[in-house]
Amino acid sequence: MEKVRIGIIGLGFMGTTHFRIYRGLPNAEIIAIADVDADKRRGDITKVSGNIGNEDNTIPLDLNGVKAYDSGLALIEDPNVDVVDICVPTPDHKDLIIAALGKGKHVFSEKPLCRNLAEMAEIEQAVKSANTFFNVGMCIRAWPEYFHAQKLYKSGVLGKVRSAMFRRLSPSIDGNSWKNWFMDNSRSGGALLDLHLHDTDLVCYFFGSPRAVNTFGVRGVCSDNGFDHVITNYDFGDNSLIMAEGGWTAPRTIPFEMSFQIICEKGTLRFNHEGYKIHWNDGKIETPEINIGELPTGWHQELNYFVDCVKNNVTPNRYQTPQQIFESFKVIMAEMQSAETQGKTVEVK
Ligand SMILES: NC(=O)c1ccc[n+]([C@@H]2O[C@H](COP(=O)([O-])OP(=O)(O)OC[C@H]3O[C@@H](n4cnc5c(N)ncnc54)[C@H](O)[C@@H]3O)[C@@H](O)[C@H]2O)c1
Repeated sequence: MEKVRIGIIGLGFMGTTHFRIYRGLPNAEIIAIADVDADKRRGDITKVSGNIGNEDNTIPLDLNGVKAYDSGLALIEDPNVDVVDICVPTPDHKDLIIAALGKGKHVFSEKPLCRNLAEMAEIEQAVKSANTFFNVGMCIRAWPEYFHAQKLYKSGVLGKVRSAMFRRLSPSIDGNSWKNWFMDNSRSGGALLDLHLHDTDLVCYFFGSPRAVNTFGVRGVCSDNGFDHVITNYDFGDNSLIMAEGGWTAPRTIPFEMSFQIICEKGTLRFNHEGYKIHWNDGKIETPEINIGELPTGWHQELNYFVDCVKNNVTPNRYQTPQQIFESFKVIMAEMQSAETQGKTVEVK
């Protein structure tokens, strides 16, 4: 295989982010896009906006030599596409994932995987039956500081975790998306599913699945009855205190925050707007050197890795396996159930 031939479905905030990244990868070639919006199919992305980054969306995408389809299913039928990259709103993930795997395509889907456990079971079945690769954009696992911190924690040099807090606080995204679907709880699952999921997944990445969760949330602040801001306690039954907070209720003047503080027996891992540092208990403060090369974000890292895996026919497992995606999805579903009862303990099964 010369270059891996990519088809992107959905050219909104995430699809255009992926588009720009693939264009810079040596082993990838975008050969097709699909979108229900005719403007996007012509490369006009002026309507696209997101909560991170500062891309100039007044500059049209160069779609020269790229086939444009008006439906994802039509793109999946294209025999020249090797990888189907799904960047449409969450409710459409399941059908496209199953259709693409069924056609023998490799699939990279954006998170959240889907809206509920019944849909997850259908996807799980399709992934098990497929002979191709499947991965989901749990990009924070691949984000350079988070990736480094997780490897260091897992190496054991810090000892066991005593307490940890992961935060993801976004300015309002009301009005950002196609048909404002993020504000429709039935479609996005609110900030709880759409945003906070990243930190749920990180808790699993660092510490494995908790035995139970307690989630408190406020709903209907900006979305139609979705949980717009939540905080969760993850119970590992081992005297640690592991928490995560996420929300999109802040005004637009407040910058996006993602951060963590992980206090362990021998030292503390800390990442925030001031940078990434290790504070050792003996008073030494270390700033780890992270070699990110030309791949500054987790989005770059995860897509580059997936493309290389497809090119070299190596099963992707550096950041997560499909099974780990299913496991953390079960945890976020338990959080949703707990939030419905304002913090009642829900076991993760
Ligand atoms: N990993 C991350 O950091 C991250 C960040 C933002 C969004 N996301 C996820 O990416 C996905 C897309 O979010 P977004 O912010 O790009 O949304 P968006 O509203 O900006 O873009 C959605 C795009 O899909 C198109 N579309 C809608 N339904 C379609 C269909 N059935 N077939 C083809 N095109 C369709 C729309 O016209 C639009 O161009 C969501 O699942 C979201 O949760 C992930």
